[in-house]
Amino acid sequence: MDIQSLRGMPDLFPEDLEKWHILEKTLSKVFLSCGTKEIRTPLLESTELFNRSVGNSSDIVNKELYSFLDRNDKSISLRPEGSASVIRAIIQKKQEHEKHKLWYQGPMFRYERPQKGRFRQFHQAGVEYLGYEEGLSEYELISMVIQLNQRLGIKKYKIKINHLGDKDTKENFCNALKLFLEPHLDTLHEKDVARLESNPLRILDSKEESTQNLLATAPRFQDFLSESPKTFLKNIVQHFTDQCDIAVDSSLVRGLDYYTGLVFEVVSEDLGAQDAFLGGGRYDHLSKELGGKGMEAIGFAIGLERIIDLMQIQPLQNVQKVAFITVGEQDQQKTYKIAHALREANLGVILDAFLSSATLKSQLKRANKHEHHFAIIIGEEERELGKYLWKNLSAQGDQELLHFEALIDKYKNL
Ligand code: HAM
Repeated sequence: MDIQSLRGMPDLFPEDLEKWHILEKTLSKVFLSCGTKEIRTPLLESTELFNRSVGNSSDIVNKELYSFLDRNDKSISLRPEGSASVIRAIIQKKQEHEKHKLWYQGPMFRYERPQKGRFRQFHQAGVEYLGYEEGLSEYELISMVIQLNQRLGIKKYKIKINHLGDKDTKENFCNALKLFLEPHLDTLHEKDVARLESNPLRILDSKEESTQNLLATAPRFQDFLSESPKTFLKNIVQHFTDQCDIAVDSSLVRGLDYYTGLVFEVVSEDLGAQDAFLGGGRYDHLSKELGGKGMEAIGFAIGLERIIDLMQIQPLQNVQKVAFITVGEQDQQKTYKIAHALREANLGVILDAFLSSATLKSQLKRANKHEHHFAIIIGEEERELGKYLWKNLSAQGDQELLHFEALIDKYKNL
């Protein structure tokens, strides 16, 4: 076949999606239980939205945006994340003066180098609390993360937190770091030399050994933080330490420019190199930067492809599956009406109409292969009697002939 899917944009097949459905249901249940409401924003936005939010110095905007000109020569981009769109939507609806607890879910796009756990089309589910100042909302979001992991059966994980201070803290530290690193440009990895200009903070989480060696004696971010954020971090760790593995990581800076205040990531060593399955933080300045009046904001997003790898939950076993089998020459449409009536009677059961003219034997074989619990068989004989054969496909294989009303009754009570 000469047409293939694009690199890093995998298909999801029915056998994959069973687990996805459980994940999606659990996520929405936990989000709703915290009083959040769903929001859906478009996949396409103006490129300027991401330049002004995620930031020109981030890899996401610099190298990874799927941007192109539309038919009107306007630069548009496939969204690489959800927070910027949520803020844009609330500003546009003039609802900045209200408080919002929102959640969303859907595909995101980043032109990254595909590898295990890293795709060009991937899915996120996220939560954004808007209009809530620093304090209890940080606690609520971390508590939600713990709750989610618990419900999904994820036990081995670590929550890393850090505080990026306010704009001044960031600026003072970046200036000091620049001063320190400038005489060492020849030993600094070239990637990090570029960062020194665009966003020096990102140098802290550099993976390059030469950079990390230099950082050992460089100014430390925590020395620029005032006492209050340090105490805030300490209190959070203390509060959650008996519920999960949580620790301050002062090299955690996150890859998006909009953060100030608390940032956090949840990692698992079971994931390999791409070990973060959730990331978030506070970004109080974003709404102003996007032309709004100003609104506090904090949130997180989960990478669904990554979290699904960690889920220890068996697919639902208790949904009853019934094969609807017709055999022989008969008025197919009339018979099919029975399937319609059965589904009307009970939507919780899977009625798998085989829509086949194969022999009874081969249709029963198919029902067994697909692990159906029961079969309803309608052949010539049944039609003449005005009765339908109800067959239990479990070991005993019990069967009985039922009138229409009795059949519906039985199906309703499965
Ligand atoms: P992020 O850290 O860029 O944050 O992404 C969140 C999560 O999405 C990551 O932890 C990871 O699990 C997943 N992810 C990111 N890129 C990929 C990829 N190429 N393939 C597979 N999974 C990926 C944000 O996007 C922020 N908007 C989070 C946030 C919400 N901050 C505040 N509110």
